[in-house]
Amino acid sequence: MSDLNKLIEANRAWAARVTASDPEFFTRLLGQQRPHYLWIGCSDSRVPANQIVGLLPGEIFVHRNVGNLVHQTDLNFLAVLQYAVEVLHVDHVIVCGHYGCGAVQSVLDGQPLGLIDNWLRNIETVYRQHRDIDALPADQRLNALCEHNVRAQVRAVCDSTVMRAAWARGQEVTVHGWIYGIADGLVNDLGVSCASPADRARLDAAD
Ligand code: CO
Repeated sequence: MSDLNKLIEANRAWAARVTASDPEFFTRLLGQQRPHYLWIGCSDSRVPANQIVGLLPGEIFVHRNVGNLVHQTDLNFLAVLQYAVEVLHVDHVIVCGHYGCGAVQSVLDGQPLGLIDNWLRNIETVYRQHRDIDALPADQRLNALCEHNVRAQVRAVCDSTVMRAAWARGQEVTVHGWIYGIADGLVNDLGVSCASPADRARLDAAD
């Protein structure tokens, strides 16, 4: 059996298990999705959004890219954010990075990788703003930059036209910065949640 056939078989078995334990599960989802969360995470295969936070299909709206980055000109990301905030009315936007991120490591290494260097430029900027981490041992340096990267992307989400407009019209939506440990499976809240422009302004003072 080919690898892909195994995936299809696994899918059939999964759907059967879900239906057996909750016969109406898929029928309910058919009508609409009402997720309360938007997840912005890294594409890394070890960081699957739904499983980490124990959510089922229909419960979390997901955007993933290499390095969990927020580029203000990324039409894909902006479309996801706008849809999540303005149509789905999510309550929370979670930027979740992870320790040991290869995207962050490659910026620390400084070795050109080609096209993706353009994508990773955001992390390069973050690194330039936090060169004090060079004094840390290598593994701590990587994880410190992973955390700085999350905080920077939280600020970028808050600075997006979508979030500014949402807060300006009084919509209640909070942006959070989390980091996930591949080694222990645990998420840590970096304590940079923003529910208003005032919260966003405080981040600049703290960092
Ligand atoms: Co990563």
